[in-house]
Amino acid sequence: MKTKPIISVHELVKNYPNSNHNALNSICLTISEGEVMGLLGPNGAGKTTFFSILCGLLLPTRGKVVIDGKSLDKEQNLIKQQIGVVPQDIALYPTLSGRENLFFIGRMYGLKGSDLKNRVDEALTNFGFDENRNKAVKNYSGGMKRRINLIAGILHQPKIILLDEPTVGIDVQSRIAMMEYLKNINQQQNATIIYTSHYMEQAAQFCDKVAILDEGNILEKGTPNELIEKHNCDNLEEVFIQLTGKKIRD
Ligand SMILES: Nc1ncnc2c1ncn2[C@@H]1O[C@H](COP(=O)(O)OP(=O)(O)O)[C@@H](O)[C@H]1O
Ligand SMILES: [Mg+2]
Repeated sequence: MKTKPIISVHELVKNYPNSNHNALNSICLTISEGEVMGLLGPNGAGKTTFFSILCGLLLPTRGKVVIDGKSLDKEQNLIKQQIGVVPQDIALYPTLSGRENLFFIGRMYGLKGSDLKNRVDEALTNFGFDENRNKAVKNYSGGMKRRINLIAGILHQPKIILLDEPTVGIDVQSRIAMMEYLKNINQQQNATIIYTSHYMEQAAQFCDKVAILDEGNILEKGTPNELIEKHNCDNLEEVFIQLTGKKIRD
């Protein structure tokens, strides 16, 4: 049983300055260590805002976040080392190669020498990069950029991995390969993974739990099967449409 809470969020509110509604509306959520959690919601639901608060990029308006037993407002630096973020918007240097980008980012996390080199080359090989690992990122396809972006976020082997729409814009095979790779890390390193996605089928397959977020509120949480049964639906997408009244953008 996975029961040790690694992230607990209590009555979390985010109100952006000059906004007349809360991007997050008193969210409560607990995520257990080693869990894969899908945060599912339409555009504007508050997914990226939630991640930005967890990784310390944004300050909450109110509420409490405890990560691995540490309070986010007091021990942010310690927490940051435990978290790997794969942002929705790709954050790479276009004129550097994929490999150079990874070396640069790895050094920022304090990795060096043969350990850094081995991690970078192993990950590049695992993600199907051959000699193109040495080409400039600006010449990569969208899917290749997404894969480098992913490796960059997990190179330091964080305990918690936050992925914001990691598989948008890539083909089905690469999407499955990416999720399988993440599942492996989850199982071998007991990493906790939270990811946002528009792909309900993928979420139902890979997530231990899902939370459905809309307009800053968590409408439902549980295992995919629990939600499907509770709402008398055939699949998670139907649950989503029933709860939010919205179709997912693809
Ligand atoms: N920097 C910002 N300033 C003001 N409002 C913002 C900002 N970023 C996001 N929002 C608003 O907060 C809400 C949640 O946005 P976001 O977290 O980006 O949602 P999602 O990632 O689920 O699409 C939306 O209403 C969005 O317009
Ligand atoms: Mg977003």
